[in-house]
Amino acid sequence: MFLWKKTKKNQIRLDPNNIPCHIAIIMDGNGRWAKKRGLPRTAGHGAGADTLVKIARHAYDLGVKCLTVYAFSTENWKRPQEEVSNLMNLCMKRLPQIVDLMEHRKVAVRFLGDRSRLPAPLVKMMEDEEARTAEYSKTGCFLNIALNYGGRDELIFAVREIAKKVQQNEISLEAVNEELISAHLYTAHCPDPDLVLRPSGEIRISNFLLWQSAYSEFYYDNILWPDFSEKDLERAILTYQGRNRRFGGV
Ligand code: IPE
Ligand code: IPE
Ligand code: MG
Repeated sequence: MFLWKKTKKNQIRLDPNNIPCHIAIIMDGNGRWAKKRGLPRTAGHGAGADTLVKIARHAYDLGVKCLTVYAFSTENWKRPQEEVSNLMNLCMKRLPQIVDLMEHRKVAVRFLGDRSRLPAPLVKMMEDEEARTAEYSKTGCFLNIALNYGGRDELIFAVREIAKKVQQNEISLEAVNEELISAHLYTAHCPDPDLVLRPSGEIRISNFLLWQSAYSEFYYDNILWPDFSEKDLERAILTYQGRNRRFGGV
């Protein structure tokens, strides 16, 4: 097992040969962060967007290739209309800055989820921002932003697509296997996540990457997402590096 050390400045030293290739984050706890400060929930979402910029930057610096962040779930439409529209506006406001950073780092931005229910100007912006960074796909570095994403929803779309191809004799029933299903998911361009992080103290998956996380390592933290720091990310990776991944073997 890799033995980790702390440097003099109390810095965490990670094994550079065992950095998770793909980290997925459930960015949770914005509302509670705001409430603790007597602020509206929107302020928490704004602070959460700042944290995303900071953590994404650090993750790629550490050598992570794919980062997938859960920004809005298919269940989040249940929230008050005002919060939902604030979240959509926040996406429009903050996306260009996030994509600027990714462009600078040669990271391709992709959106995961059902776009049909999202506001048209936001969808247009998402398409433009994907196009702006599309050429970086070849680097293998991705920032996936899950927006109106649901793991079950994703599987329904995949099943429909595959069923259609079988029905039209494009593929045989026997051709339906794990690889084919993975190739029909929003994450087809990335390997499965090695590490799934959930700050905020909740210990549940909330419909995130259900198929892809079959063998992911899970890491939960009580820190609310807006307070999540670079050091917290390193701590999560350090914990990951101490895990023994067996994938069902011995
Ligand atoms: C996560 O923070 C952001 C979204 C789900 C959009 P929450 O808004 O869920 O914050 P809490 O869980 O209520 O604190
Ligand atoms: C999960 O957080 C979704 C996102 C972070 C976008 P929620 O706050 O919606 O999850 P639950 O309701 O606590 O399970
Ligand atoms: Mg929440």
